[in-house]
Amino acid sequence: MEFIDIFEIKKGIKGTFIGKNLYYEEKVDSTSNLARDLAAKGAKNGSAVIADCQEKGRGRNGKTWSSPCGCNIYMSILLKPKFSPEIAQGMTLIAAVSVADSILELTGLAPKIKWPNDILINSRKVSGILTEMSTRNKLIDHIIVGIILNVNAERDSFGPEIRDIASSLLIESGKEEHIDRNRMISSILNKFDRYYEMFLSTGLSPVLEQYQKYFGMMGKEIEIKVNGKTVKGIIAGIDPMGALLLKTADNQLERVVSGEINF
Ligand code: BTN
Repeated sequence: MEFIDIFEIKKGIKGTFIGKNLYYEEKVDSTSNLARDLAAKGAKNGSAVIADCQEKGRGRNGKTWSSPCGCNIYMSILLKPKFSPEIAQGMTLIAAVSVADSILELTGLAPKIKWPNDILINSRKVSGILTEMSTRNKLIDHIIVGIILNVNAERDSFGPEIRDIASSLLIESGKEEHIDRNRMISSILNKFDRYYEMFLSTGLSPVLEQYQKYFGMMGKEIEIKVNGKTVKGIIAGIDPMGALLLKTADNQLERVVSGEINF
């Protein structure tokens, strides 16, 4: 087993902002809950909260995430930006591209992004992102970008209900040698730092350009649940705000801001 070593992670941090302040706990209920508490106590913009395991890892749509010790990455990045809440969804795309780039660079595996926030390898989910925003008087108070990346989890650590749809980098690599989580964490934070700076100076387009490279869904026929209603269509792309564009049966282009895709 390899360990999370906060000094190793710090050594690998190249950016000046994201991950400059790091918080590490061996076990927490949820890194995103801890990030929220730290935000209230004045934690700095760009801080990252990392844990070796979580007892109540939270996912999208109220799902819980099994977060075993000693093998994966559970991390939440705290942002206190000045931009408007409408463009906050871009943070999910920045996180997805940062994780995908890091997987490709450090393992040579070929990640694909399932809009908006799942990262798949060989069609199995290895990473998910949960972006949560808190606003005050229509302004952002803070954003917490929670990232899970299954790194060295073994097949039997996944419950039978998800064994066919979830995986880890180790399983997909087919190797025995464990992947260094410390290097992976530094890499994700460094990429996030770079893409976030680009986003602040030029908007989401450079991020979207990279996102398209990993986007494995163009032209696919899907069903998506939007506010309890099922919409069917063919994926026509991602718009400049990061929304999904769907061509529906009556040839209309529907813009979907959030939802859960079924193939
Ligand atoms: C998803 O549903 O795909 C998103 C899962 C996000 C889980 C991560 S783990 C780190 C952070 N802390 C949480 O409680 N949730 C996010």
